This record gives sequence, structure tokens and C-alpha cells, in this order.
Amino acid sequence: MEGTAKFDRVLAIETSCDDTSAAVISADGYVEAVCSANQDLAHEPFGGVVPEIASRNHTLNVLPLIEETLKRSGRSWSDLDGIAVTSRPGLVGSLLVGLVTAKSLALAKGLPLVAVNHLEGHLLAGFLRDESFAAPAEFGYPYLGLAISGGHTHLFLVKGLGDYTVLGQTVDDAAGEAFDKFAKMAGLGFPGGVQVDKLSREGDPQSYQFPRALIHEDNLNFSFSGLKTAAQNQLQKMTLAERKQQLPSLCASYQEAIVEVLLHKLTKAVASTGVRCALLTGGVSANSRLRAQAEVWGRTHGVTVVVPPLRYCTDNAAMIGFAGIQRLRRGERAAEDLGPSPRPYPDDFKYSDEL
Ligand code: KG4
Ligand code: ZN
Repeated sequence: MEGTAKFDRVLAIETSCDDTSAAVISADGYVEAVCSANQDLAHEPFGGVVPEIASRNHTLNVLPLIEETLKRSGRSWSDLDGIAVTSRPGLVGSLLVGLVTAKSLALAKGLPLVAVNHLEGHLLAGFLRDESFAAPAEFGYPYLGLAISGGHTHLFLVKGLGDYTVLGQTVDDAAGEAFDKFAKMAGLGFPGGVQVDKLSREGDPQSYQFPRALIHEDNLNFSFSGLKTAAQNQLQKMTLAERKQQLPSLCASYQEAIVEVLLHKLTKAVASTGVRCALLTGGVSANSRLRAQAEVWGRTHGVTVVVPPLRYCTDNAAMIGFAGIQRLRRGERAAEDLGPSPRPYPDDFKYSDEL
């Protein structure tokens, strides 16, 4: 039976960090339903994601979310052709919840299972579609994929399904981590990126000259730890009253440094590869200044830039489902002893010296 399956539609499950998400998606990228639950309130008192709390919340959320997703999609189990699940990279305890759920459901319902790399999901988010979003027709392989989240700042050359070359990556903190650490220093709560984004709208991005690390280097790597230290030094020089009064401009200047570096490296990547399509993906691509500047950047440089809507930029199961269904169509199946991995598999990505 399985050999003749068409793989029109799958259920996808994502639990790699602190968001639980389920989706029903078709092979052409149409998202029939996606339901996600974030755990921000549970982690907020600790100023960051606590792995043990994340796993426990996934166990509470995952089955109700799957039921709700099926209900919203109007589909039943018999309409599904497979199950896709994130197996790597991520928090092992979190991944395990999604994996055990997916394996059990696949076995119980007699459906094939496929394991997906979380970053691959982010990199394919530009192909998702729904009633209010579709990338422009010019968007397609090859494209530059900038994956920017709490754990990653990776610039990829995406040539096709499974063909992802890392052109550059952060040598220290991820861009999202830089936002979150600054927010913590400034007493803005967790997750910090959203707060910095909000406050920045009232501030002047030119008020403080924060460093743009590695901007003059020839490579496509990123570094954000110097920026964090510079901001820390600046905050220490100020009285509490000054900090409070200057906070919007501090946020705007800090944010500007991150946005400028990201777009500068994209410009370099366009020049070195000649590729004229780009995708911004991952939680940081929700940043409103980055989204606005990326649009200007695309027009100025003649590059088709896709920044999917927030629901597909942040962690979600729809992107995992899209990657999974393409892989199922290629005949891939998860091994029976499939387990979670904190890191990507060695052959998930190529590195730029192998270009
Ligand atoms: O992709 P994501 O939802 O989770 C993973 O890390 O995989 O990304 C979360 C990161 C956090 O660091 C958060 O502060 C950041 O994305 N973020 C933002 C914004 N929204 C979320 N950073 C800047 N501006 C935002 N609007
Ligand atoms: Zn992510």
C-alpha cells in the first residue's frame, strides 16, 4: 500500500525548543491548519528557556494541539498520508516528546514517519502558503537563507531540497540571544526580542554607536558578543534615571547594529554567489525594523526578498511538514530506532569550502 501512496498531505509535529506546534499541510505548501502553543509565561520568571519545564509543557500540549489541528483542517486520520516530526537539532527532552508522540501515532494509524532537521524547516518556510500569504512567483531555488533565531545565526545557500551550504555563521552569540541578553540587562523581561523591537519604535537608532563586528572581514560570519559588552558598558555608565529616559534610543541603536550587520553580510553573499533571491527566517525575522529594512535592501539591490509572516518565521510545525512531505515523496522514512539529537547530522549541511 505504502509504495503506491501519493503523499498529498501530512500531519507535522514540532517540539524542538519551547514552542509546541502541530500542522496539517499539503504537498504544494498549502497550510490547511497550524496550531501552536508558546510557553513564554512558564519560562519568563527564569529569564530563559528551562529545558525540564519545556519538556513537561510539551507533554501537556502536544495531544490537544494535534486534535485541534485536525479539527480546524477538517481532516480525519484517513485523509493523512504520513507524519513528519522534528528530530534535530534542539533540546533533547523537548524533541523526545514530539518524537515519541509521532512514532506512537504513526504506528497506531499505520502511517509512514519522516524525521526533519529543524533548520531545514526554517529554510523552506518561504514555500508555505495560505489564504493571506504566498511568496512571489520569482522566489525559488537557488536562494540565500538567513536563519536567525535564539539558537542560530546561519547564512545558507539553498540550492534545492537537502542541498544547504553554510556560507557563514555566528562565532559566538546568536542574533536572538543578543536581543535577549540586552533585554535582560535592561530589565525588559523574556523573550527580549519582542520588547526591544517595541521600545525601539519610540527611539532614535543613531543615538548610540554600537560596534558592527566582522563587518570589514572578508568572510560571511557574524559576531554579537562585542555588541553585548558595548551595551553593558554603556548601561553601566548611566544613572537609573538616564537609562529609563534613554531606553527607547538604546534599544533602537542596539537593534540597528544587529539589522545592519545582517543585511551587510547578505549583500556580501549576493556579491559572492550572484544569487538574487533571499529568505529571512527564524524568530528574529519577526523584528519589524529588520523586515522594513530588508524590503528596502531588496529593492536597492535588485534581490527578491521573502520574509514569511510571523506565524511561519517563529517555530511552527507547518515548515516541518513541508520539508517532511517532500522527503516522504523521495522515499525517505525514519529509522525504527530514531532518537532525538541536539546537533544536526553530519550530512545535513555542507560548508562553504565544499561549494
Ligand atoms: O525561531 P525562534 O522562535 O526559536 C528558536 O530559537 O528556535 O526564535 C526565538 C528568538 C528569541 O531570541 C526572540 O527574542 C527572538 O527570536 N525574537 C525577536 C523578535 N521576536 C522574536 N527578536 C527581535 N525582534 C522580534 N520582534
Ligand atoms: Zn527555530
